[in-house]
Amino acid sequence: MVTKERLEIRKQICCIGAGYVGGPTMAVIALNCPDYDITVVDINKERIDSWNGDINKLPIYEPGLSEIVNKTRNKNLFFSNKIDDAINRSEIIFMAVNTPTKTHGDGKGMATDLTFVEDCTKRISKNSHTNKIVVEKSTAPLGTAEKIKEILIQNKSSVEFEVISNPEFLAEGTAINDLLNPDRVLIGGEESLNGQKAVNEISKIYSHWVSSDKIITTNLWSSELSKLASNAFLAQRISSINSLSALCDITGANIKEVSRAVGADSRIGNKFLEASVGFGGSCFKKDILNLVYLCKFYGLNEVSEYWHQVIKINTYQKNRFVNRIVKILKNDISNKNITILGWAFKKNTNDSRESASIDVTNYLLNLGAKVRIYDPMVSNKKIINDIQESLKNINIDDKNIEEFLSKISFFDNVIDASKDSECIAILTEWDEFKSINWSIIKNHTSSPLFVADGRNILNPDSLKGSVDIYISVGNFKY
Ligand code: NAD
Ligand code: UGA
Repeated sequence: MVTKERLEIRKQICCIGAGYVGGPTMAVIALNCPDYDITVVDINKERIDSWNGDINKLPIYEPGLSEIVNKTRNKNLFFSNKIDDAINRSEIIFMAVNTPTKTHGDGKGMATDLTFVEDCTKRISKNSHTNKIVVEKSTAPLGTAEKIKEILIQNKSSVEFEVISNPEFLAEGTAINDLLNPDRVLIGGEESLNGQKAVNEISKIYSHWVSSDKIITTNLWSSELSKLASNAFLAQRISSINSLSALCDITGANIKEVSRAVGADSRIGNKFLEASVGFGGSCFKKDILNLVYLCKFYGLNEVSEYWHQVIKINTYQKNRFVNRIVKILKNDISNKNITILGWAFKKNTNDSRESASIDVTNYLLNLGAKVRIYDPMVSNKKIINDIQESLKNINIDDKNIEEFLSKISFFDNVIDASKDSECIAILTEWDEFKSINWSIIKNHTSSPLFVADGRNILNPDSLKGSVDIYISVGNFKY
C-alpha cells in the first residue's frame, strides 16, 4: 500500500503502456531507484491483470524479467488500470504506447499512427493539476514531442508541462541486460531553462545505475531522429548481408565466411551481420517506413528511396527463401506437409510481430501447402491471430481465411511437428533447434529429409547421413 506519508517524500513516476517497453523498463528503474514509486498503467485490463498475477506467467517473456518484478512488485512498482489517478499524482509521466504504421488516411502504409500517443496526451492534459514532465518513450516521428506539448497546453494554462524525448534502445530477448547495461541513454529536451531542468530530472533517474558518460543529451529533434536512424542502421546491415547471401547462394562464396572477414574490420564491426530469412520485429519495418515517409514529406526523394531499399531487400529475402524450397519440391507443394520450426521473430521472446514466419507461412498456404507449426514460446492463439491478420491485409476474404486455417496444425514438440514433412523450415534460432536429433526425425519421415535452415544454425557437416537435402542462407554447400 502507498501511504500518504510515502507519497509526500517519494517521487512518483507513471508509465502509460505496460507492453514490451513499458513493463521491463519500469521494472529496471524500480529495481535501481528504490526512492521512486512507479505505477505502470494500461487500457488493456487483461495485460495489467497478468502483470499482477502469477510471476511465472507475466504477459511478456524476457529472461531475467520475472526475478526483477518479483523483487519490486507492490514495493515500489505497481501495475494498475487507474490511469487518471496515476497521472494526477505523478511528476514524471513516461509514454510507452504503441506507434504502429498507419493503416488508413494520409500516409497509409508508411507514416506513423500517432492515435495512441495523442489519446494519452489528451488524458494527461485533462488529469494534470500539478506541473508534469512528460517523457516520450515511444518511438515517434520528428516533431512529435513538439506536438505533444502543443496538445498538453491547449487546454491548460495553470499547469506547466515539459516534454522530453527519451527513446528506448532495448532489444527483445536481451531487454533486461540492455536496460541494466545500456550502450547509451538518450535524453532530448528543449534548450530553455525549464527544458534543461527537465532533462536533468530524467538524467537523475538513470544516473542511479548508468555512468554519466553514457547519458547523452541533445535537442528534441536530434533525439527523435537518432532513434529512427539507429534502427535504420541496424536493419541496413542485415539487408546488406542478406543481399550478399543471394550472391553466395549462386556462387561458391559462403556468407558466414564473408561476414566474418568483413566484420573483422574494426571500422565495420561484427554485429548484425548474420544472414537470415529476413528480419522481423515490431519496429524495424515501421520505423524505416516512417523515415522513408518523412524524407519524402520533406522532398528528399533520393534519401527516401535509399532507406526504402532496406525494406525491399527484406521482402525479397523472405520470398527468395520460400522460392528455393518450392523449387526443390519441384514447384508442387499443393497438399504437401511443410513444417515451420519457430514463430517468434527471434529467440528468447514470445513476440511474433512482423516475424518472417508469418510471410513464409502465408506464401506456403497460398501455394496450397499444409503447414505444421511448433514454437516453444508463442501461443497457438497468437499464431492464428497473426495469420488471420496478415491474410486480411492482403485482402483474402473470411471464407478463404477459414480454409487456409484448416490447413494449419500445431504441435508442442519438434518431433511431432516434423512427422511426414516434405520440408522442415527453421525460422527462429531457438537453442533447442540447434541440437535436434535428425536421425529420429528421419525415422518418422517417408520422403527424403529436407531441412531449410533460415537461420544458419545447423552445421551442415554434422547432418550428413540423416538429412538428405539441406539448404541454408548464403551457403551453396548441398
Ligand atoms: P506494446 O504494444 O507491447 O505496448 C504498448 C501498450 O500501450 C499496450 O499494452 C497498449 O494497450 C497500451 N496503450 C495504448 N494506448 C494506450 C492509452 N491511450 N492508454 C493506456 N495504455 C495504452 O508496444 P511496445 O513494443 O512496448 O512498444 C512501445 C513503443 O516503444 C513503440 O513506439 C515502439 O516503437 C517503441 N520501442 C519498442 C521496442 C520493442 O522492443 N518492442 C524497443 C524500443 C522501442
Ligand atoms: C531492435 C533494435 O535492436 C533495438 O535496439 C531497438 O530498440 C528495437 O529494435 C526497437 O526499436 O524496437 P529487436 O527488434 O527487439 O530490437 O531485435 P533485434 O535483435 O534487433 O532483431 C531484429 C530482427 O533482426 C530479428 O528478426 C533478428 O533475428 C534479425 N537479425 C538480427 C538478423 O536477421 N541478423 C542479425 O545479424 C541480427
